[in-house]
Amino acid sequence: MSTKIFNTAEVQDFLRLASGLTQEGGDARTKAIVHRILSDLFKAIEDLDISSDEYWAGVAYINQLGTRGEAGLLSPGLGLDRYYDMRMDAEDAALGVENGTPRTIEGPLYVAGAPVAQGFARLDDGSDQQGHTLIMHGTVFGADGQPLPGASVEVWHANTKGFYSHFDPTGEQKPFNMRRTIVTDAQGRYKFQSIVPAGYGVPPGGPTHVLLQRLGRHGNRPAHIHFFVTAEGHRKLTTQINIDGDPLVHDDFAYATREGLIPPLVERTDAASIQAHGLTGPFAEIHFDITLSALVDGVDNQLVNRPRLAA
Ligand code: DHB
Ligand code: FE
Repeated sequence: MSTKIFNTAEVQDFLRLASGLTQEGGDARTKAIVHRILSDLFKAIEDLDISSDEYWAGVAYINQLGTRGEAGLLSPGLGLDRYYDMRMDAEDAALGVENGTPRTIEGPLYVAGAPVAQGFARLDDGSDQQGHTLIMHGTVFGADGQPLPGASVEVWHANTKGFYSHFDPTGEQKPFNMRRTIVTDAQGRYKFQSIVPAGYGVPPGGPTHVLLQRLGRHGNRPAHIHFFVTAEGHRKLTTQINIDGDPLVHDDFAYATREGLIPPLVERTDAASIQAHGLTGPFAEIHFDITLSALVDGVDNQLVNRPRLAA
């Protein structure tokens, strides 16, 4: 259809009406956002001549996405999570705020309430038969470069099938498997024993996967480990490290890879290293120090509140 009606008074009045802008009640912010997004959608329908069939396929798709609980999975795949990071980085640059360790996306699979340990934790319960032992450790530094004792390092990652506890379709993992909160010791150090995770893929055949395929894209992430790091006087850091050598390190469907977040993974096979960590066989070691940024005018100006699972 080549007839253009979007810019007519009739359609523009209708958009204001449908967004509640002509009503007293309701929430002004919601009205403003709905008006803008609805207007952009109406315009796209006209500009791209989106057919009724295409539109209703989209409505059915959104229902599927919700039914499967995948809206939070599609979001990083479409780059929105990364875009919010870009915006925060730009805001920091404008304010002259330096980030020691780069932030990167949270992802949709965090669960609040993991067991808390002092200085060291073992994350896995030993049940993953394919597991290759991982020792990861480092120091949390404050914005002044000094180690931060008592900082909280929340860590979560997938098993060797790429599944996270609480979201594991096989039902194999116990609650909080490979999820802990580690409080740094008097020298600001954290350490954990776990197993090297495998890469993650969106649920095969699910709505996220289907759309990505329509875009000619895949839905896989390189193996990675998530962190929230919090300490007095500092902004909460949301970040991840990638497992060095994973073929998808620079082809992450969620766009979370960043320079500075691919620490070397060293395979240790010598008896002295094995003994030093109280292990019985070869293991992989990652050393990763974390530097937090200071509060801005006394507040964490970039704290993200989002609905999160708690168990
Ligand atoms: C998704 C999964 C992850 O494990 C992650 O870290 C980021 C995104 C996802 O399914 O979209
Ligand atoms: Fe993840």
